Amino acid sequence: MNLKKPLDTWARAFGRGVFPHQMTWVLDLPGRGLIMSPRTVAGRLPLRPDAQVLEVGPGSGYYSVEVARRIPQGRLALLDIQPEMLAKCAEKLRAAGLENFATYPADGQALPFDDASFDAIFLVTVFGEIAEREAFLREAARVLKPDGVLSITEHHPDPDFESAQAVATGLQAHGFEPLQQLGWRWAYTLNAVPRRGG
Ligand SMILES: C[S@@+](CC[C@H](N)C(=O)[O-])C[C@H]1O[C@@H](n2cnc3c(N)ncnc32)[C@H](O)[C@@H]1O
Repeated sequence: MNLKKPLDTWARAFGRGVFPHQMTWVLDLPGRGLIMSPRTVAGRLPLRPDAQVLEVGPGSGYYSVEVARRIPQGRLALLDIQPEMLAKCAEKLRAAGLENFATYPADGQALPFDDASFDAIFLVTVFGEIAEREAFLREAARVLKPDGVLSITEHHPDPDFESAQAVATGLQAHGFEPLQQLGWRWAYTLNAVPRRGG
């Protein structure tokens, strides 16, 4: 029996880099909600019922269902570099009776959307996996509406966890102004807005 492939998948799940789609059961562990629940994440987003929202790296949709529920007249765009993740995410949303979403297999470093398309962009345990942060942040600023919010949530024990201070410094260096930090140091959300006019 060749164990190389499964061992490699486990190593990728518990090491740094893109989280493997074969391991989504880890993302869906019931106890995860004690660290960062879907209600907490959704409650930290500026969601009107008709909001246009982009989730980058939804994985299997642990947070997507709650957000889609809160924007019944709006739309949730789900963009992930792994199409297999999007298939699982779509299945979860449909099982919850939700249809107000669309999936986009793409890299967050080149967003396939028009300028000023979204009221909010959110990411949970994804920022540390994006290889070219600068490109992503440039794209995020482009597709956000003028009063739109970029919301980055990080929590342990994600191997790609980045501290709020490191994320805030990166945001400031690449055109965003941090607005508020919520939660605590090992499980937090940082909301930021694009700095307009330079
Ligand atoms: C650790 S999982 C988190 C999934 C989900 N946000 C959650 O918290 O359950 C990271 C996700 O980000 C996606 N991802 C990583 N790099 C990406 C990139 N550059 N563009 C889009 N998605 C990316 C991965 O495919 C994976 O689905």
